[in-house]
Amino acid sequence: MHNRYAVILAAGQGTRMKSKLYKVLHPVCGKPMVQHVVDQVRKLNIQEVVTIIGHGAELVQAQLGDGSLYALQEQQLGTAHAVRQAGSMLEEKEGVTIVVCGDTPLIKAETMESLFKHHEEFAAKATILTARIADPTGYGRIIRNEGGLVEKIVEHKDASEAEREINEINTGTYCFDNRALFEALRNVSNDNVQGEYYLPDVIEILKKQGEIVTAFQTTEFTETLGVNDRVALAEAERLMRIRTNELHMRNGVTIVDPQNTYIDTEVEIGQDTVIYPGTIIKGKTTIGEECQIGPNTEIEECEIGNKTVVRQSAAYKSSIGAHVNIGPFAHIRPESKISNEVKIGNFVEIKKAVFGTGSKASHLSYIGDAEVGSDVNIGCGSITVNYDGKNKFLTKIEDGVFIGCNSNLVAPVTIGKGAYVAAGSTITKDVPGDALSIARAKQVNKENYVQKFNLKK
Ligand code: UD1
Ligand code: CA
Repeated sequence: MHNRYAVILAAGQGTRMKSKLYKVLHPVCGKPMVQHVVDQVRKLNIQEVVTIIGHGAELVQAQLGDGSLYALQEQQLGTAHAVRQAGSMLEEKEGVTIVVCGDTPLIKAETMESLFKHHEEFAAKATILTARIADPTGYGRIIRNEGGLVEKIVEHKDASEAEREINEINTGTYCFDNRALFEALRNVSNDNVQGEYYLPDVIEILKKQGEIVTAFQTTEFTETLGVNDRVALAEAERLMRIRTNELHMRNGVTIVDPQNTYIDTEVEIGQDTVIYPGTIIKGKTTIGEECQIGPNTEIEECEIGNKTVVRQSAAYKSSIGAHVNIGPFAHIRPESKISNEVKIGNFVEIKKAVFGTGSKASHLSYIGDAEVGSDVNIGCGSITVNYDGKNKFLTKIEDGVFIGCNSNLVAPVTIGKGAYVAAGSTITKDVPGDALSIARAKQVNKENYVQKFNLKK
């Protein structure tokens, strides 16, 4: 096998996206397009990956980190000009270089591997990854001679009517003999409708030199989608979603309605978990086995243990243990840490709070900036009063505490182990362990009061 190199084109602005965000950074199922491409490329056995950056260079570099080397294309004069920027790093190398566009997020490592194999089998100087698609508008067309051999690629804007009828397209992924590529790049001109240096022109140049140029036509046409505008972005998202959901289902996850379930590509889900419709799972979330998630639930960057149920709720940047029961209509805000067997019921909001094993807040509560021990029962309507308008304060509720309904715990405050807080209390001072604390106005019953003042008709 030859040495392998990769060049990823990611310097363009993406004018057609009409966006402040640079095109290749637009996410598809939660991951920037260019990151999808680099992740797939890195699965191949490649010596050096060079990403061409220009627009948003710093942001693209920050995104990809040390997963790639970088070459700066200061002015975006076209895809051939872009590849040329990798010259100082690559042009002396012997081997095969794959070029991939940063805006084709669906391309898979397997397909690129097949492209390499095809290229090597034919001892070609260039091999184009092509596909036949129903609507080739906007793509470069593959022009073949009578013998069926590839002659050149014509860009949509430069194509004649007859050429536009051709539905075999350039996917924007190619393998090249590395030295032949950088040689040929010197001869690419910008004499075309867009006044750009087109990488596809390398094909015609090599062909005219009598070199072997081949095409590898993939049947995985969904992989070839190039995202130039938001319509294509939504299509990429849809295709990626189908792929991701299928993967989970094949791994033993039940997704009741895959078309209405939105799972980012980085999410991990254990066997026999059931995901109900309307569920959105984002970021690097991991969900254990035998969980029930949804319907209509949003989970972002959470770690969830086995056999946990989350119904019609939202949870962000938190860890949630096993056998936990959340919802319906609960809100778990960032930095919460919920241990096993906890119950967070309807209309309960948790923020930056730790919950020990077996504790419960079953109804209508706000628990923020709190450390709740294990086996604590927080009665309906109880609130941690954590904010004085300027600062946030901590509430500590130790193991085995019982907080009666509709209590206010004014922080900073500690409720000692095993203590009871009577319903309706506003607690402003620490409560010792095993004490009963009552902090509410005493009840007064005035006998026959109503008749006396004739208030009742
Ligand atoms: C390109 C191909 C076209 C192919 C299509 C597949 C050319 C001239 N055309 O067209 O044959 O069918 O992809 O999706 O190559 N870029 C740079 N520097 C530049 C210009 C572009 O880095 O100076 C990058 C862009 O960021 C993008 C990629 O190259 O990731 C492709 O550029 P784009 O303008 O989207 O090319 P297409 O018109 O889609
Ligand atoms: Ca494109």
